[in-house]
Amino acid sequence: MRQVLKLNDGWIFSDGFDEGHIGAAREGETVTLPHNAVDLPLSYFDETSYQRPFTYQRHLTWDDAWAGKRVQLQFDGAMADSVVWVNGTQVVAHADGYTPFWADLTDHLRPGDNLITVRVDGSENPSIPPFGAQIDYLTYAGIYRDVWLRVLPERYLVNARVLTPDALADAKTVVIRPETTAPGPVRARLLDGDREIAATEGEVELTLSGLTGLRLWTMEDPALYTVELSLPDSGDVTTHRFGFRTAEWTPEGFLLNGQPVKLRGLNRHQSFPHAGYAAGRHAQERDAEILKRDLGCNMVRTSHYPQSPWFLDRCDELGLLVFEEIPGWQHIGDKAWQDRSVENVRAMIRRDWNHPSIVIWGVRINESPDDHDFYVRTNAAARELDPTRATGGVRCIPDSELLEDVYTMNDFILDESELPLIQRPRTPLRPREEVTGLKTPVPYLVTEYNGHMFPTKAQDPEPRQIEHVLRHLDVLNAAHGDPQVSGSIGWCMFDYNTHKDFGAGDRICHHGVMDIWREPKFAAYAYGSQKPPSEGVVMQPVTFWARGERNIGGVLPLIVLTNCDEVEFECAGVTRRVGPDRERFPHLPHPPVIIDHRHISAAELGEWGMSWHPGSITGYLDGKPVARRDFVADPLPTRLQIDPDMDRVPADPDIDLRVMLRALDQVGNRLPFLDGAVQVQVEGPAKLIGPSLRMLQGGTTGMWLRLTGQAGPVTITARLDQFPTATATISVG
Ligand code: GAL
Repeated sequence: MRQVLKLNDGWIFSDGFDEGHIGAAREGETVTLPHNAVDLPLSYFDETSYQRPFTYQRHLTWDDAWAGKRVQLQFDGAMADSVVWVNGTQVVAHADGYTPFWADLTDHLRPGDNLITVRVDGSENPSIPPFGAQIDYLTYAGIYRDVWLRVLPERYLVNARVLTPDALADAKTVVIRPETTAPGPVRARLLDGDREIAATEGEVELTLSGLTGLRLWTMEDPALYTVELSLPDSGDVTTHRFGFRTAEWTPEGFLLNGQPVKLRGLNRHQSFPHAGYAAGRHAQERDAEILKRDLGCNMVRTSHYPQSPWFLDRCDELGLLVFEEIPGWQHIGDKAWQDRSVENVRAMIRRDWNHPSIVIWGVRINESPDDHDFYVRTNAAARELDPTRATGGVRCIPDSELLEDVYTMNDFILDESELPLIQRPRTPLRPREEVTGLKTPVPYLVTEYNGHMFPTKAQDPEPRQIEHVLRHLDVLNAAHGDPQVSGSIGWCMFDYNTHKDFGAGDRICHHGVMDIWREPKFAAYAYGSQKPPSEGVVMQPVTFWARGERNIGGVLPLIVLTNCDEVEFECAGVTRRVGPDRERFPHLPHPPVIIDHRHISAAELGEWGMSWHPGSITGYLDGKPVARRDFVADPLPTRLQIDPDMDRVPADPDIDLRVMLRALDQVGNRLPFLDGAVQVQVEGPAKLIGPSLRMLQGGTTGMWLRLTGQAGPVTITARLDQFPTATATISVG
């Protein structure tokens, strides 16, 4: 039997690196992984501060049970360039920050104490992808994912590919290609949960066929099965989760299990404020849940690198499709750099080939120029390892050489015109053939739009936020209406820290439909409202409800992002029922309601100089009220809300729990322009990531708590002058 233990605790971290300490313990701080070498302020930091080497060391006491076994460490991810020594002997070097690597300790361990030393260099080394020029994101530094101790028999399972050649048949087949350290027999059991469905034995390729009564992996019901492999001679056992599904890219669109699906997604970076890339399991999973449940997306692109295994596992469980790609950003380096990039293709695919959620491999450096020889190689590597999935290569240039299966394009055509809201003629997406320059139709996917074309901060004025919303709606509408487009993936899910060469100078790209804490901006509801109401009613008026926040004033035209059949607007004694604007947005599953001069005149609500009124918006489904928002005319600071993602959590140090803080008025609406510093105190078995003084922006801010692993209540207290002191308790254990 193999033994796999998480080895996240007890690491001694120190700044810098010196050869003299390769085999001797250095002074340092004891830390738990995932770990970020340098926690950054929220904004205006020096991003070179983590671009240097750091040392992680760990003592490992010999265990007699290891005699005759292989002892390895598995690093799920360390940024950016790592070398591992055991008792002074180098065992592995890995020059990629996004894929796993293994340090085999076996031949260097001795009875008693053993010292593991890891040098992790966060420098932007130009010989390692994505480095060599500018990149619009930060990579941080440190051992930022989990580390596992693996005790294995001499003959063990290295990996396994699980194939489903006839997923749509009633009687299905599973083909398993195990990889072992030495030839010999392998047993396979197919499991549904704990229940065995079938079993077989073989060596190089094992086949289970005639499997009936099995469910497909769909977006609504993402059924997952497990293959358990064992080696009868050594007792090694591994499990491999997979699903039965087909994914086809055609010039007429994308098909999941033979059914057309219009892809609607957002790009995600794997970064978190202060903690960089070093977020634990729950924070990773939560992002997938937000994408699927709150943002109503059916796809995510892991821009621009392979992301956390926890995130991908959750995508499998939720039925959220994934576009996964290799590290890189516009720049292609020399031959050695390209060799590494081809290796990145292999490492990504070998890590992730059994995830049913992944439906396309991105094998081009994001937005790079054409490079025939290089991209012939990346495509060949992908197709050789995984002929079952399409390749894509994200570009932003038209007429680019298509070596992939799907032409994947960042289309930023939507212009900057500031014409009045409703009637503006504009081009949200370019026609496919104009982009590809090809006479023959090819599968086509829009992989980015908006973003830097219209950066929008959470606290920006209402007119800008309206335009932000419309830009997302316009592209979604165009993508939904064009059968030649498989779908669109917007830039991007949330704001992210970046280099000085991008963003608002504050080291943040305010490109998200959510802010850096994953708090929705109005544009988030452009996505969320596209989901069917059975998955949650959405009704978000795009307004801060004030007399004078807009030019000229008032709240008309009022866009209500909703999946309701109609909404009722009430203000100043005026009541109107209005349905979705199918004329302006004919292709959206749920066009917004737009209340304007067609329904009501500004004068009816009172003009500039007259008293301002409260109002309410009610959403109706099948004639019944299902959602209501009230707005007051005199918003006042009333309640500081502390809103944890969960209020009962297991005592697991894997959990980085998000907690939102919001300044609310009398009826629970955010006070969108309330600036203030909230003093936060956390007591109990959790540590606050980042400073205890938090600035509200757009009336909101967030934080992550890292649990210590101990049980007990965690109490959060928040203080801000104009509000009563707020407390919330999370029960841990
Ligand atoms: C794209 C790029 C993204 C991001 C985006 C901003 O060119 O691929 O990483 O920088 O622009 O809109």
